[in-house]
Amino acid sequence: MNEKIRKILDLAILAPSGENCQPWRFVVSADKIKVFNIPERDNSLYSWGQRASNLAHGALVENIIIAASNFGYQADLKLFPDSTNLGFVAEIVLKPDSARPDELYRLITERCTNRKPYKRSPLSKDQLMILSAVDFEGNRARHKFVVEETDKKELANMASANERVIFENQRLHSFFFNHVNWTKTEDDRKSVGFYLETLELPPPAKVMFKVAKKWSAIRFLNKIGFSKMIAKANSQIYACAGATGVVTIDDDGKENYFFAGRLMQRLWLTVSSLGLSLQPMAGALFLALHLRHEDDKILSALHKGVVLHNYQRIQEIFGVQGKTVAMMFRIGEDGQPSARSSRLPVNVIEEN
Ligand SMILES: Cc1cc2nc3c(=O)[nH]c(=O)nc-3n(C[C@H](O)[C@H](O)[C@H](O)COP(=O)(O)O)c2cc1C
Repeated sequence: MNEKIRKILDLAILAPSGENCQPWRFVVSADKIKVFNIPERDNSLYSWGQRASNLAHGALVENIIIAASNFGYQADLKLFPDSTNLGFVAEIVLKPDSARPDELYRLITERCTNRKPYKRSPLSKDQLMILSAVDFEGNRARHKFVVEETDKKELANMASANERVIFENQRLHSFFFNHVNWTKTEDDRKSVGFYLETLELPPPAKVMFKVAKKWSAIRFLNKIGFSKMIAKANSQIYACAGATGVVTIDDDGKENYFFAGRLMQRLWLTVSSLGLSLQPMAGALFLALHLRHEDDKILSALHKGVVLHNYQRIQEIFGVQGKTVAMMFRIGEDGQPSARSSRLPVNVIEEN
């Protein structure tokens, strides 16, 4: 394989994905990269219609486009090129180009999720201006920020409803804990899922977290309000931010989630360029997406009510009623995270 394409793919897979599931594989020929979904990587309640994966694919392809510019290529993108094969996400043809490399290139290896509490002081006007100006070709996804303390707190509270549901619903609880890698050795071996140290739990919470792995223990602990305590603790961390933001799209379509992912990646790389940190707070949004499309019995009536009410309130706070909120995240000032997540090797087939 062309050495430059190999390097582009090495950078592409540093993109974020829900639960670090990395739902992608590639087929490469001379100057062409085909991106395919791996649907079984995320069949969870958090990826209705594979939308969380569609968003991750957007981030992945944005990395490809940015990296290609560094190696002297313009990347021509065809999205969902085969209507009979929805797993075929994108075809990218690389054409020699003398345009300047995208300056976000050097940040692809820097970007990561930081789940530590950040400073609460609002982002500066300059920082907000730079972040608000982030754009990508097509403009099919948009973003907005709030910096008011009351808004950040309310949004943090609503984002943390996801954790309450996880600790009160056996299926989600099992899904979440199945994705935790407890040691570095396990994380290196599996290379998908959350490495415990990236969750930034303080020492007492780390002990409780191991107990909380057992559903029988959780059922008992919930009698004394454990799930609500977890949600409250997370809410306090989520509120530690200089700004809370959303990426919105016109509707729940797969292409729009892909564009949300492209924009999200450009934003996240720009956040890194400013020396700031970012954490998505997206679980509650993806549960709401599921509930907008499925009327199953997986969530209780109480949880459904909370998730849908919160989603509406998030739309109101950002003034984006009628739009789909594809992503929510907090941004702020903090040092480096305690640990980074692993990646699987590039999954690529060469074609003549
Ligand atoms: C669609 C999507 C949803 C995500 N939701 C969350 C979330 O709710 N909370 C969180 O801490 N991280 C979330 N993440 C971040 C991933 O967990 C993270 O990207 C992945 O573990 C890889 O780690 P990295 O970003 O440090 O490379 C999300 C990422 C994507 C693409």
